[in-house]
Amino acid sequence: MKLAPLLALAFVAPGSALVRFHCSQLVVERLDPLVNPGMIPSAHVHQIVGGNAFNATMDPKADLPVESTCTSCQFEDDFSNYWTAVLYFKARNGTYMRVPQLGNNQFEKANGGLTIYYMQDPIYESKQISKVKAFQPGFRMFTGSVTARTLPDALPFRQLTYVCMDTWTQRSPETIAFPTRKCKSGIMVSIRFPTCWDGKNLDSPDHMAHMSYPETGTFESGGPCPATHPVRTAQVMYEVIWDTTVFKDEHWPEDGTSPFVWSFGDGTGYANHGDYLFGWKGDSLQRILDADCHFMTNCSKETGLKLQSIDAMNRCTQKPKIEEDVDGWLDALPGGYHAEYGHA
Ligand SMILES: *[C@@H]1O[C@H](CO)[C@@H](O)[C@H](O)[C@H]1NC(C)=O
Ligand SMILES: *[C@@H]1O[C@H](CO)[C@@H](O)[C@H](O)[C@H]1NC(C)=O
Ligand SMILES: *[C@@H]1O[C@H](CO)[C@@H](O)[C@H](O)[C@H]1NC(C)=O
Repeated sequence: MKLAPLLALAFVAPGSALVRFHCSQLVVERLDPLVNPGMIPSAHVHQIVGGNAFNATMDPKADLPVESTCTSCQFEDDFSNYWTAVLYFKARNGTYMRVPQLGNNQFEKANGGLTIYYMQDPIYESKQISKVKAFQPGFRMFTGSVTARTLPDALPFRQLTYVCMDTWTQRSPETIAFPTRKCKSGIMVSIRFPTCWDGKNLDSPDHMAHMSYPETGTFESGGPCPATHPVRTAQVMYEVIWDTTVFKDEHWPEDGTSPFVWSFGDGTGYANHGDYLFGWKGDSLQRILDADCHFMTNCSKETGLKLQSIDAMNRCTQKPKIEEDVDGWLDALPGGYHAEYGHA
């Protein structure tokens, strides 16, 4: 099997946990228990993975491992929910279709969904040594800005990117706006969450203020956490593969603009964002982060935490609670959105 160059290096050395695993699609629908709790439907369409206790409202005191009967994630103890907006393609004639998703490199059999990383240090090729604190039950966070339509709007978020993949394992260059050309193997979206916690709040009004980037730069530059947010957590990263290759030449815009639109109308790509709701059973995530392990199988063996098969992950799905078309050619995006390209 071919590996991404970045990942191929990782097998060289042992270290503390850098864990990478996949979660298949649980459901695609307009629900958002973080930003629009209780709203049925919520503002825009999401693609959601993880425990099947996912719902319009999710009580921070709920015990997700108890309330779920399955998870679409590879670690059997991970009942977290991870979600992103949905990518649509705007055809030349102005109608929209949802871009299908694929599993990721090494998870090709998965039914769409997303790949999750929990990382302690910004290195793939050698030992991860930092001790970091796992998230607590009830913890949730958001990163990105739904209203961003320019590069300056997007820059505060630092690490939300696109890769126009010409091969299945291509991982660079990363851009902050949507690719405009035809990417032969699809588009990978990467979402990296901030890594410094205030140590007190499980959530905050904007779902971001309880978290911070390191004092200097990003997780990748290795700076310390600010005094306001002193607790180092793992970096949560999502990778989502959008199969943009299914659209025919005759549907692509003739003027070279990007046909891609997020489900809330962003046609620039600057409003890339992600949502996270912690739901690991007991201390299972902390056990992984404390283990001297690398990647999924090794971390599973070192901790005794069980993995389920991709077939079992694919079987954990939810019936959408909202009856509306999110697929097929649509005159408007669900919720009535249209592609917009923001201010000059
Ligand atoms: C996990 O990987 C490390 C480093 O390659 C290795 O030393 C260790 O034996 C592995 N653990 C198991 C249980 O396979
Ligand atoms: C979702 O919430 C509704 C209303 O509170 C409830 O009736 C339903 O059982 C919940 N579904 C799941 C899967 O928890
Ligand atoms: C736009 O093109 C698609 C694909 O060819 C077609 O199915 C759809 O009906 C067209 N929509 C309009 C409004 O013409």
